[in-house]
Amino acid sequence: MITASKLSKSFAEVKALSELSFQVNSGEVYGLLGPNGAGKTTTLRILATLIEASSGTASVNGFDIKKDAEEVRKSIGVVNGGMGLYDRLTGKEVLYYFASFYGMSKAATDKRIKELDDLLDLGDTLSRRTTGFSTGMKQKIVIARAVLHDPPVIFFDEATSGLDIMARRAVMNFVKAYPSQSRAVIYSTHVMSEVEELCDRVGIIYKGKLIAEDKVEALIEQSGERNLENAFFKLIERSGSEMHT
Ligand SMILES: Nc1ncnc2c1ncn2[C@@H]1O[C@H](COP(=O)(O)OP(=O)(O)OP(=O)(O)O)[C@@H](O)[C@H]1O
Ligand SMILES: [Mg+2]
Repeated sequence: MITASKLSKSFAEVKALSELSFQVNSGEVYGLLGPNGAGKTTTLRILATLIEASSGTASVNGFDIKKDAEEVRKSIGVVNGGMGLYDRLTGKEVLYYFASFYGMSKAATDKRIKELDDLLDLGDTLSRRTTGFSTGMKQKIVIARAVLHDPPVIFFDEATSGLDIMARRAVMNFVKAYPSQSRAVIYSTHVMSEVEELCDRVGIIYKGKLIAEDKVEALIEQSGERNLENAFFKLIERSGSEMHT
């Protein structure tokens, strides 16, 4: 569903990604883990066609990110931590506004909002103006807006930061239920328990490189540690010492 092939990205003298390659299969939630500045957001922004790679190629839902950027954008939903909402609109108005971009009819939009209300428990976020929304309320509308058009691929970049346990649970249940034969998710987070619960496979990124990739249990086994957090430290430490030899 998603293929990244030797993606590199430099920002002036900063080398954010170097020859990063990975694949995500349909039906998978693929986790992206890595310390601050590792290159996770950069990877997702390249795949979402928001920025261009310095070199390398990638495809999403069968479309090349360079040649078919428009098709890629139609195939994805992007959820990140801090997106703005239009303050004067109600949650529902925000969703109608975005549905019009996606060319959805009123009937289709209403049907979809109802589904998303059930999945995400949107509650009174639909009828209230987004001014004064709490972090969690905002995030629910941000997620609903990103998946209104039922995209085959969703990228989550620290989507649960700032959410209380109920809102977090709603998001996680949503992510868990999303993949199918024709859908996949990339889920980037710093929260190990979310990765353990949600991700079918995990790629660990460090200094712009993929240093390990496997199922959670296999990563733990590889590292000789007992849990994912310790495995994460161990694998990063190992690769750090390899990078310097
Ligand atoms: N627009 C930019 N201009 C300059 N440098 C950038 C830009 N975007 C990212 N970088 C740099 O690229 C590297 C990777 O950043 P990125 O945001 O992808 O990391 P990340 O893995 O998402 O980290 P975090 O966990 O903190 O979100 C960092 O060194 C960062 O400073
Ligand atoms: Mg980031």
